[in-house]
Amino acid sequence: MTVLNVKDLHKTFVLKDMSVKALDGVSFSVEEGDMVAVIGASGSGKTTLLNIIGLLDRQDSGELELFGETVDFSKDSKNAVIRNDRIGFVFQDYSLIANENAVFNVMLPLYFTKMSMGKMRKKAIEALKKAGFPETHMKNKVKLLSGGQKQRVAIARALVNDPDIILADEPTGALDSESSETVMNLLKDLNDAGKTVIVITHDPIVAEKCRRVIKLADGRIV
Ligand SMILES: Nc1ncnc2c1ncn2[C@@H]1O[C@H](COP(=O)(O)OP(=O)(O)OP(=O)(O)O)[C@@H](O)[C@H]1O
Ligand SMILES: [Mg+2]
Repeated sequence: MTVLNVKDLHKTFVLKDMSVKALDGVSFSVEEGDMVAVIGASGSGKTTLLNIIGLLDRQDSGELELFGETVDFSKDSKNAVIRNDRIGFVFQDYSLIANENAVFNVMLPLYFTKMSMGKMRKKAIEALKKAGFPETHMKNKVKLLSGGQKQRVAIARALVNDPDIILADEPTGALDSESSETVMNLLKDLNDAGKTVIVITHDPIVAEKCRRVIKLADGRIV
């Protein structure tokens, strides 16, 4: 099954009198169970593309099909459900709540379900363990964690909902090579378990571990 199909996506950002073509006609599709690396220089449009695929932003023109359906960006609540139930997002800047602990942060996507607090907490702890987060630090405020630990919290939060597709923006960007390998192996395990994974990376070693590489330059696939 094709889980993702984008056709001729365009997105321009306008700042005062300057405009930037972040995406300039991007088309590709991803089959269920694939693991795709998105590479390209800084500013080439990678995050912009992932944000649109993850329903966090919308394109100016072109089409996005997710799970076999064309996304209608006017249907906010429907899209929120898709985003929450089927997409796991690891943000480039983590986007964690700094004053709360790791467990709380990972529980967040579950608040929209009917799960009990106890069950949510249990699932969050399971996801954190899976992401290799140290058990001793689970109650520490996120702002006190190292970059690599924050990265693991972000990954745990992305997988706690058991999503169909995982979108990760530089998930190894802040890590040393050993932690980077652990995180990549984790994403590979998720992929082996049937999840579709799209991962933005600057790291050629990370890209090599994916089944396929898409390269962006100036908002186009090259
Ligand atoms: N919200 C925004 N407003 C204005 N310009 C933006 C916005 N988001 C992105 N851009 C611009 O669009 C271009 C593409 O940005 P994008 O974040 O997609 O790049 P990227 O490939 O993810 O880069 P990096 O590797 O540095 O994260 C850049 O020139 C960026 O400055
Ligand atoms: Mg980026």
